[in-house]
Amino acid sequence: MRIAMIGTGYVGLVSGACFSDFGHDVVCVDKDAAKIDALRQGVTPIFEPGLDKLVERNVADGRLSFTTDLGPAVADAEAVFIAVGTPSRRGDGHADLSYVFGAAGEIARALRQPTVVVTKSTVPVGTGDEVERIIAAAAPDAKAMVVSNPEFLREGAAIEDFKRPDRIVVGTEDEDAAEIMREIYRPLYLNKAPLVVTSRRTAELIKYAANAFLATKITFINEIADLCERVGADVQDVSRGIGLDNRIGPKFLHAGPGYGGSCFPKDTLALLKTAEDHQAPLRIIESVVKVNDLRKRAMGRKVIGALNGGARGKTIALLGLTFKPNTDDMRDAPSIAIVQALHDAGAKVRGYDPEGVEQARPLMPDVEFCASPYEAAEGADAIVLVTEWDVLRALDLKRLSASMARPVFVDLRNIYPPEEVENAGLEWHGLGKPARDSKRVDVETVAAPVRSSGKTGGV
Ligand code: UDX
Repeated sequence: MRIAMIGTGYVGLVSGACFSDFGHDVVCVDKDAAKIDALRQGVTPIFEPGLDKLVERNVADGRLSFTTDLGPAVADAEAVFIAVGTPSRRGDGHADLSYVFGAAGEIARALRQPTVVVTKSTVPVGTGDEVERIIAAAAPDAKAMVVSNPEFLREGAAIEDFKRPDRIVVGTEDEDAAEIMREIYRPLYLNKAPLVVTSRRTAELIKYAANAFLATKITFINEIADLCERVGADVQDVSRGIGLDNRIGPKFLHAGPGYGGSCFPKDTLALLKTAEDHQAPLRIIESVVKVNDLRKRAMGRKVIGALNGGARGKTIALLGLTFKPNTDDMRDAPSIAIVQALHDAGAKVRGYDPEGVEQARPLMPDVEFCASPYEAAEGADAIVLVTEWDVLRALDLKRLSASMARPVFVDLRNIYPPEEVENAGLEWHGLGKPARDSKRVDVETVAAPVRSSGKTGGV
């Protein structure tokens, strides 16, 4: 198949590279000439494990190319994917669809044959209808079949998610278009990934409903974690105890400092706007958004609480700044609200992150960035583990403890067992665990005990 991918952001680049790896001919189009130049020279603009190699291999094999010239790429394609950004519109939280509609108009004028036009960007219900209308108005003779095909990629695991999806969702009422989409995804559903074909509006809603449900699951367990602290229960055991129920499932039940990133915050807000516009309030999601926002700042207060006498003049080392591991993405990262709360309380903040410093710097100008967790901990009054990067999972706790002014260790991802932290001479503070003087009661399991890994996303 010949595919044009409009937009070389996160979704466009990963999808384009993966489609070319399936053997399709893919041209990725972007208006940003500097980005296209860089991609042509093998420099990928985002950090995503495995992406560099995938791009390099498919470019070398002649299946993947990059251009700023939309016309020829579209004219030649059997399928055109729209994968441009849909940021939150300033002021009202609606998804900003100007890039999607702009792309639709340009595509319309470039179409030369019957073509499937696929919206891959996350777009509100009804956007496909509008794209169809724009194309018909701009090029009345063009034959475009407009399809919705949302993506469910997680940053840091995007290539794996693309190649081994739980499902592929295709929204179209046009059988020819469905057939072309089946052809494009053939390597995947031969591999047993279910292809769910629905109406276009349904497919658009599936994406938002999935993200809102996952955000709800995380927020639910975060509130249960707060309750655990009050009643002397252990949230990791609660997660395990409820997650073993197949109706609930174990994933996205890891308590943490609140969800962030480019999708959940933006998509939950956009879904609420759609619900409001159609007088079908989603009260659960409204609460999720509020609770999650409050939680990020509450994590700052938790750190201050751990310091007993307050944070003024204290030095606090934050380990892991990105919203999750294996990405350099700082969008809506909980670390931003934590830094803010700590600064407001008069603390000095140091930060360490394996990949995110460049993105973090402008967002937290008063933070002193360090080259290692050990440098950040030197003389500090507290360490706060915010994001569970692998390099932070095997810290030399004794070494940290020895170099700190005060040995306070706040683990916002529950990576380290409290005993291990205390044995290293550190004072442990975590999420959703009994106070350290009460007895822990093990949850009985009939099968082999399942250990909670504390990982997010792929667990
Ligand atoms: C998400 C969806 O998973 C993906 O399907 C969609 O296409 C885009 O949005 P992503 O934002 O990359 O992907 O990250 P994800 O791994 O889902 O994590 C989102 C946030 O939730 C992170 O801040 C993470 O730390 C947090 N999280 C996740 C938890 O706090 N606990 C969990 O159990 C899982």
